[in-house]
Amino acid sequence: MLMANAVKRIGVLTSGGDAPGMNAAIRAVFLTSMHMGIECIGIRRGYNGLISSDIMQLTCDDVIGITRHGGTILYTARSPEFLTEKGQLRAVDNCRFLGIDGLVIIGGDGSYRGALALSKHGVPVIGIPGTIDNDIGCTSYTIGFDTACNTAIDAVDKLEDTMQSHERCSVVEVMGHRAGHLALNVGISCGAIVTLIPEKSIDFETDVADRIRSARLNGYTHFTVIVAEGAAPVNTIAEKIRASTGIETRVTTLGHIQRGGSPLVRDRVTASLMGYQAVSLLASGTFNRIICMKGESVIDLDIEEALAMQKGLDENACQMQDAIMS
Ligand code: F6P
Repeated sequence: MLMANAVKRIGVLTSGGDAPGMNAAIRAVFLTSMHMGIECIGIRRGYNGLISSDIMQLTCDDVIGITRHGGTILYTARSPEFLTEKGQLRAVDNCRFLGIDGLVIIGGDGSYRGALALSKHGVPVIGIPGTIDNDIGCTSYTIGFDTACNTAIDAVDKLEDTMQSHERCSVVEVMGHRAGHLALNVGISCGAIVTLIPEKSIDFETDVADRIRSARLNGYTHFTVIVAEGAAPVNTIAEKIRASTGIETRVTTLGHIQRGGSPLVRDRVTASLMGYQAVSLLASGTFNRIICMKGESVIDLDIEEALAMQKGLDENACQMQDAIMS
């Protein structure tokens, strides 16, 4: 006998910085809902859309072919209004008015704090981790990280070509205000001489200048330095390298290029699995959970438990990078 779904109409929104793969998650949420006989409404512009009832009735046409596109068809926003009690209550009222009995929220930590507030007002929520920073404590992987790393790697590889020709030092700023996962992975993949991340304090002489000098002695004629945006001001680092080593130095800030582009297989597949799992949980009456990756498995955790979790950098990767580059 078929069990009745615990929800009849759900909403899906994307919130915070976009990430390649969000569209695949939206598609999976919509198609899984349709498969289970649940109505799925798209909420546009993140929590702002929940406050202002900026909704769209999703159809198959909206999701056909979107897995290959970066960005999010639902638009996204950071919503200062939703940080207020007044904004949250308006969002809750709108959910009731629209008959939304479950919400799938695709975004980062900040988005989950919003989700937690909604759940406390009685709106059932499920979070899906989407951010290129891979900095969400409860999950080993966030949608968009792999694609962003590869976009950055592709750019740094290109820079390497011209740095080699001119025997220069390339100082490249990658995204990551509070977390160095992206910088660390790009640094390792591109053979950077130096990788600076927000989690570790920097001593310019030992962490940067000495490493470039010893690389020079080992035969390097061009140098790549990766700087996470939260680690140090990239222009200051470049200036100091010039002053202390005399090597011609150029700065490149990769910026929002890292957030765009066609998602890679890992992001498309992970996002699809997570979207499917999110709707399955809502349908079975399991609410207020965050979908996470634990190793290769998709699991879910209680939202408060998930928000309390911290994630450090991969210490093995840090040690290896330190050892082979010192
Ligand atoms: O998506 C996360 C992130 O990319 C951070 O690494 C970066 O600091 C921030 O977003 C930039 O956000 P915005 O698009 O609001 O400038």
